[in-house]
Amino acid sequence: MKQFKNFRIYDSLEEYYVHQAQGALYKEYGACRPTFESSLKTLFQYLPNKRSKILDVGCRDGWACEQMIKQGYKNVIGIDVSLPAIQWAQKQKRPVIFGDMHDLEFPDDSFDAIYCSHSLEHAYDPIKALKELVRVLKIGGILFVIVPVKNYLGIYHAFEFYEPDLLKKMIDENFDFETLQYKYFPLTHMGHSEDEVWFIGRLKSKRFKR
Ligand SMILES: C[S@@+](CC[C@H](N)C(=O)[O-])C[C@H]1O[C@@H](n2cnc3c(N)ncnc32)[C@H](O)[C@@H]1O
Repeated sequence: MKQFKNFRIYDSLEEYYVHQAQGALYKEYGACRPTFESSLKTLFQYLPNKRSKILDVGCRDGWACEQMIKQGYKNVIGIDVSLPAIQWAQKQKRPVIFGDMHDLEFPDDSFDAIYCSHSLEHAYDPIKALKELVRVLKIGGILFVIVPVKNYLGIYHAFEFYEPDLLKKMIDENFDFETLQYKYFPLTHMGHSEDEVWFIGRLKSKRFKR
């Protein structure tokens, strides 16, 4: 593995999975960030239909999936590359499966909404991962991405969004979304290790711009 200022290059996919699983320990994390619960509330505002199909990308302990189900959403699934985390979550009867966001095992147009919280920075290729998310999202569907913003490479991050507008630039330059919200949350002054940004967009077309 080679480490640069804002990304890592892994020698193999296996090395990548092992590294990522180390960062996703198998225990209950619950709402581990100041904005976690408000991000879910915001997602629900865009999803009036409780039959909406929702994918949670990088779901770790499956806590967010459980909150969605508690709110009455009936079609929720989480994916994660950490087998121990998935097995732990499955024991709690949370609807999660093993899956890599770069190569999803879902047909095109499977989901009404994708929630990807603090996970895209773990992608070895964020644009490839976003392409997969767009492939499985329906036209008109909601993509909600939250990434931390740091000036150094986080210990388990594969890519760092080190400028607050980088996520939006990446999405706008490559994909066709109507931006519904783009927000910056300064959290470090509250003792948190990183600030974060939220992108919420509605998919207009599957056109890949580059
Ligand atoms: C920081 S945790 C975020 C967990 C949760 N979504 C949250 O908001 O707290 C990042 C998660 O992404 C998972 N992950 C890393 N690479 C992934 C990939 N390629 N596909 C799916 N999940 C991945 C990790 O195993 C870990 O559980």
